[in-house]
Amino acid sequence: MFSELKDKFSSVADRRIETLFDKTRVAIFCAETDGLFFDYSKTNIDLETLDKLFEIVKNTSVLDKRDAMFSGEKINVSENRAVLHTVLRKSSGQVFVDGEDVMPAVLETRTRIFNFAEAVRTGKIRGQGGVYTDVVNIGIGGSDLGPAMAYLALQPYVTGPKCHYVSNIDGAQIHDVLADLNPETTLIIVASKTFTTIETLTNAKTAFSWMSNIVSEPATQFVALSSAKEKTSEFGIPDNHLFGFEDWVGGRYSLWGPIGLSLVIAIGKEHFCDFLNGGFSMDDHFQNSKINKNLPIILALIGIWHAQIGGHTTRAVLPYEQRLSRLPAYLQQLEMESNGKGVGIEGEELLTTSGPIVWGEPGTNGQHAFYQLIHQGTHVVPCEFMIAKQSHESHLKHHHELLQANCLAQSQALMSGRNIAAARTMAASAGFVGKELERQAHQMVFQGNRPSTTLVYQKLTPFCLGQIIALYEHRVFVEGVILGINSFDQWGVELGKDLATKLSPVLAGREPATQYDLSTQNLITKLCSK
Ligand code: F6P
Repeated sequence: MFSELKDKFSSVADRRIETLFDKTRVAIFCAETDGLFFDYSKTNIDLETLDKLFEIVKNTSVLDKRDAMFSGEKINVSENRAVLHTVLRKSSGQVFVDGEDVMPAVLETRTRIFNFAEAVRTGKIRGQGGVYTDVVNIGIGGSDLGPAMAYLALQPYVTGPKCHYVSNIDGAQIHDVLADLNPETTLIIVASKTFTTIETLTNAKTAFSWMSNIVSEPATQFVALSSAKEKTSEFGIPDNHLFGFEDWVGGRYSLWGPIGLSLVIAIGKEHFCDFLNGGFSMDDHFQNSKINKNLPIILALIGIWHAQIGGHTTRAVLPYEQRLSRLPAYLQQLEMESNGKGVGIEGEELLTTSGPIVWGEPGTNGQHAFYQLIHQGTHVVPCEFMIAKQSHESHLKHHHELLQANCLAQSQALMSGRNIAAARTMAASAGFVGKELERQAHQMVFQGNRPSTTLVYQKLTPFCLGQIIALYEHRVFVEGVILGINSFDQWGVELGKDLATKLSPVLAGREPATQYDLSTQNLITKLCSK
């Protein structure tokens, strides 16, 4: 697979990216939609390569699968489900699953969510002690990362109660969060699609008993976001406090619907609608713009060029935006749970590497931590920079100018590096001579020629956040189709869950450890000894 492109990659490996810049390059190696501008001129992709990459899209089922996804076909074949998180961002039209139009139910649930959130915000719905001051969202994975990331990203729009996010089964987290809260004015949201996730149920029970000590009817201060109605009522959550969604919304794609409730409570329905509209705008762009100007397709092809063709196994997401500090974690689930698979759709072994390892931190913090390796280490890490034209803090304009300068400086340094001649001049001006000058100069060489892309957006508004998230969702989708992966199941997380359930009574001393391998037995002994 990709053999021609792999040959091309090797043949241009030593070519300097800078030599590709003629008068037309910056105008060609970019794409734009609704205020988002994506530059990929600082990659070692030339026009011939670009054509070949676009050929991949034409020769695979990307466009057919895209249309199948939007129209409600069951493209998640291993679970026999449609993939319709895109419906959650629509406000009209019809989409059929098993012969039934799903839009009316989506719109009805959205209205219920908006009404509930508005009532919480205005104090019409309140706790035993009065207006809700705090909301605790208990969930994990897709039931946590999306709302937690977006709540932080959209802080300038938060006008509702304070939201807190508890995900880890480590009791330290729920302990620390609840320690500062008043049970009488706290709303607990239990977010779990399946309502079987042990972390979430354990935390929910802990929160319930914390509340029961003070509040006479704790269930009235609980809300469930789930597809499992029977299980939520078994837990004791009243039906009018359940906001459901269908199995065609994957956990890591669920922020747009009920799982976004804490965000709606925090920012209000108008801003949440802007967020949905941003996602919808990207859906429209993905469906209707030409392949060679289609942002999700271009991002996916660059990803494939670097990972599967070039063999760079990781990529860094580097938002120069402190409020996007949870975006890399969010994208880790989105990308790695979706495409971290070694088996194709038909159960065949993948003939290429799976989706890459995704990681990152906001700039400029990352610069003072791991950028050393990005610049001078032996691994090539393709970097995806993100930067706003404007910040929300207009009174701190000089901060933003420095932030932008740092972002551009990094992509420039990655591409251009510093050659030995320049390093020698630097060493000489620092007073070094002879052998010591040579030794010092070699430490200061940056090979450069390291690829990066830059996404520029106007300002981190709800609309813009919606665009960015949908952009990455569709990028993951396109990469998955090209690799022949089903991006919508996640069998890789199941085995560990099973084993943990079996190990729990062993650690509690209720069952013997003898069935385990010697290393695990030894660790059990260490953990259980006084
Ligand atoms: O980690 C696996 C996973 O199934 C994710 O896909 C999902 O987002 C998370 O667990 C939480 O699942 P649930 O919402 O059902 O509690």
